[in-house]
Amino acid sequence: MNYSIADLKLAPKGKKRIDWANLRMPVLATIAARFSKTKPLKGLRIGACLHVTTETANLMIVLKSAGASVYLCASNPLSTQDDTAAALVRYFNIPVFAIYGEDKKTYYRHLEHVLNVQPHITMDDGADLVSLLSTYSIAEENKRYTIKNKSNKSWNFYGSSEETTTGVIRLKAMEKDGALKIPVLAVNDSYTKYLFDNRYGTGQSTIDGILRATNILLAGKKVVVAGYGWCGRGFATRVRGMGSHVIVTEVDPVRALEAVMDGFQVMPMNKAAKIGDLFVTLTGDKSVITLSHLRSMTNGAIVANSGHFNVEIEVDKLEKAAQSKREIRENMVEYVLNGKKIYVLGEGRLINLAAAEGHPAEVMDLSFANQALAAEWLYKSRGTLSPRVYKLPEKLDTTVAKLKLKAMHIQYDTLTQEQKKYLNSWQEGT
Ligand code: ADE
Repeated sequence: MNYSIADLKLAPKGKKRIDWANLRMPVLATIAARFSKTKPLKGLRIGACLHVTTETANLMIVLKSAGASVYLCASNPLSTQDDTAAALVRYFNIPVFAIYGEDKKTYYRHLEHVLNVQPHITMDDGADLVSLLSTYSIAEENKRYTIKNKSNKSWNFYGSSEETTTGVIRLKAMEKDGALKIPVLAVNDSYTKYLFDNRYGTGQSTIDGILRATNILLAGKKVVVAGYGWCGRGFATRVRGMGSHVIVTEVDPVRALEAVMDGFQVMPMNKAAKIGDLFVTLTGDKSVITLSHLRSMTNGAIVANSGHFNVEIEVDKLEKAAQSKREIRENMVEYVLNGKKIYVLGEGRLINLAAAEGHPAEVMDLSFANQALAAEWLYKSRGTLSPRVYKLPEKLDTTVAKLKLKAMHIQYDTLTQEQKKYLNSWQEGT
């Protein structure tokens, strides 16, 4: 197979980094121990479109140890760690189609490569594989799915899992439009995913990406955080901890109110644009920072995005309107707009992966434990699922949380019989 990776010579470095991440992913290791004994995914082909990081590498290795053949492509052109890709190919014999900085055409060619292996299960981070798969012919009979590709080859398909909020929103829109033809598992919607990955993972790794790209001092800066969902609140809380004055912009009144009561200043972007030093979008929506906002910013303003797609900041319009442009540091471009300097980080792509290494392994441990369980659940549930967006059973959430607490040597209380009875009764309140 013709792997599209950067350079096999990078493999030894990638292998050591994969090992380091592995040491910090105890829940996944517990699942791996069971999977390698019982081989619950034996004979399956799994196609994954995820950020090619050391944490993803560990997930791929676990799926392979469960008996599956796994194939990986990138879920963003700027998130691939080339040494990780090389190590997966060289030491684990896992085909990877991903190169850091790949152009749009190559990115989609790599997705096609993964679908060409005729996967029984796919995994997405942003729903690009499912979206491409929906251009194939998909037949359903008694909740059994057959996919036929453009060369008229057909195979059984069991379902797909989705890692991120943006992907789940996209899939739910497909379901509403009747365009979703396969069952999908929204891993993002498990508590042990979004409460931790989106909040603590994005919170920390966004700061990491901004600092690696700029090396600025955050203390004393006016930082504008667009979006107060789980990612936004994670970042806002952490950047406040670094001494920044944080302004939140929101469109949802409940979230805006929450931000106010959490002690943040809340105002519309039109106002915030004029006073911020650093702007970070974490909304999942487009045109959150428009060209008009960019024009009203102060000289030296820095803008970055930590949402999944590069649509939150109007970088394309800035490209056309700017008088000049130069790369001033890696992952930072200086634009001169109306005589003012505006700095864009990582081309407006998700900064935590474009300029840093994404979320730390400790938090990806939870997310990817859910992904591993999702693959098992999709396979076990074959023949029973409709073309809908499903959630993992809550019992699995509890299992993942218990395993993490155990690995962290943290003990916690349990209800007594008397307390359980009290909580289940309605008669007596005293
Ligand atoms: N998404 C955010 N951080 C990630 C990481 N470290 N690995 C894979 N996907 C991620």
